[in-house]
Amino acid sequence: MNITVIGSGYVGLVSGTCFAEMGNRVNCVDIDPVKIEKLNQGIIPIFEPGLEAMVLKNVKNKNLFFTTQLDEALQNSEIAFIAVGTPMGDDGSADLQYVLAVAKSIGQSMQKRLIVVDKSTVPIGTADKVKATIQKELDLRSSDLEFDVVSNPEFLKEGTAIDDFMKPDRVVVGADSDFTIQKMKELYNPFFRDQDRFMSMDIRSAEMTKYAANAMLATKISFMNEIANICERVGADANHVRMGIGSDQRIGYSFIYPGAGYGGSCFPKDVKALTKIAAENGYNAQLITSVEKVNNAQKLVIAQKIVKLFGEDLTGFTFGIWGLSFKPGTDDMREAPSIYVIKELVSRGALIKAYDPKAIDEAKEHYLKGIQNITYVASKYDALKDADALVLLTEWKEFRSPDFDKIKSLLKFPIIFDGRNQYNGFNLKEIAIEYYQIGK
Ligand SMILES: NC(=O)c1ccc[n+]([C@@H]2O[C@H](COP(=O)([O-])OP(=O)(O)OC[C@H]3O[C@@H](n4cnc5c(N)ncnc54)[C@H](O)[C@@H]3O)[C@@H](O)[C@H]2O)c1
Repeated sequence: MNITVIGSGYVGLVSGTCFAEMGNRVNCVDIDPVKIEKLNQGIIPIFEPGLEAMVLKNVKNKNLFFTTQLDEALQNSEIAFIAVGTPMGDDGSADLQYVLAVAKSIGQSMQKRLIVVDKSTVPIGTADKVKATIQKELDLRSSDLEFDVVSNPEFLKEGTAIDDFMKPDRVVVGADSDFTIQKMKELYNPFFRDQDRFMSMDIRSAEMTKYAANAMLATKISFMNEIANICERVGADANHVRMGIGSDQRIGYSFIYPGAGYGGSCFPKDVKALTKIAAENGYNAQLITSVEKVNNAQKLVIAQKIVKLFGEDLTGFTFGIWGLSFKPGTDDMREAPSIYVIKELVSRGALIKAYDPKAIDEAKEHYLKGIQNITYVASKYDALKDADALVLLTEWKEFRSPDFDKIKSLLKFPIIFDGRNQYNGFNLKEIAIEYYQIGK
C-alpha cells in the first residue's frame, strides 16, 4: 500500500518505518526541515533500539521516503496517518492545534479518496473535529472528494518501540464503515502471523481505549509507590511486597516497581487530559486525579530523603546522578523524574555530576539547559568522583550490577539513594546509619 505518515517523531518515525518494513511504500512527512534533512542524510534524530538499521534498510530499498511536502506525499497515498504531538495545554487538556493543523493541510492537499487515521493520542470526539476540518477545506475547494476518519491509537513503548509495533499485543481501530475496517485490516494483517489481534470498534471507544490503558498503567505505578511509602514507615520491604503481590495472576508483575514516579511524553499528559475530559462531561474522576497527585509527590520523595540526611542547605555537597531519561532504552527526557530531582537539589545549592548512556545531549540542550552546577560525565563511575552520594534515577541495564566496592571507594559517603528501588537488599536505612557513624 502507499501510505503517508504525518509527524516523524517517536511514533510517526517508528510506525512509518515498520509499515515500510512490511513492504508498503511510506512517505514520512514532518514540518521540521532540519529533522527531514537529517533523515534524508541517514541521521536518525532519536535514539530507539533497532530503528536506525531498519530506517537505512528501507530507504535503500526505496520503501521509505522523507519530505516536508505533504501535497507531494499524499499524491499516491490511500491512507494518511496523523502522528503529531498532542502536548498538555495550559489548562491540562490535550492541545489539538497540531492535529487540526494537519487535518486542515490534508483538506487543502488531498487529490483522491483518502483514509485519514488519528494515531496521535486524542480526546474523545477528536475524529469528528478532524472530519469537520477536512470537510471545510474541501468545501472551500468545491471538492466532492470522499474521505474517512479512523482512530488507531498507538500502544508502542519507547525503548522497545520496534518490537511493540512489529509484534503488537493488539491493534485497535475505531471506524464507522466496513470499507475502512477492511483496509486497515489489510494493512495490519502482516503484523499478526500467529494470532489475529486486530480489534475493530466504534471511533469513540477506540479513542477512549488509549486513555484508559495509560490511566490504568499510571494507576498501577502510583498504587505501588503509595504502598512503598507505607512500607517504609511500617518497616516492611516494598520489594518483597511487590514479589508477594505480583505472583497473583490477577495483579501481575508489570508496572508495580516502586520508584521515583512516572514521567515520559504520555502518562503525565494523558492522565491529566482524562481528568479534564471527565470534568468537561460532568464527572469528577477522583481515582485518576489521585493517581496524578501521588505521582507529583513521588517525584520529590528522593530529594526529601536527601534533605533529611544532608540538611536543607546542600551547599558544598555533590551528588552523582545515574540516569536522566524517563526510562531506560530511550533518550527521551519529557517529564523525567530526574528533572525534578536535579532542579530541587540544585536549588538547595548542591553540585550535580550526571551520567546517562543516551540522554546527556537532551539534558544539555533542552531539559536542564542553562542550569549551573551540573557537570555531565562520560561514565557511571566518573559521576562518583568527589561525590558525596549516588542517586539512581533510571534503571538502565548497565546500572543493574555495578561494582559496589568501587562505588564505596569513590563516594565520600557510601550512600545510594535508589529512586528506582533497584538494589533490593541495599538497605538505605542501614547505609544511613553507617553514614552517621562515620561522623558526618
Ligand atoms: N512517544 C510515545 O511513546 C507515544 C506512544 C503512544 C502514543 N503516543 C502519542 O503519539 C503522538 C505523537 O507522539 P510523539 O512522541 O511521536 O511526538 P513527537 O513530539 O516525538 O513527534 C511529533 C512530530 O510531529 C511533527 N509535527 C508537528 N506539526 C506538524 C505538522 N503540521 N506537519 C507535520 N509534522 C508535524 C513535529 O515536528 C514532530 O517531529 C502523541 O499524541 C502521543 O501522545 C506517543
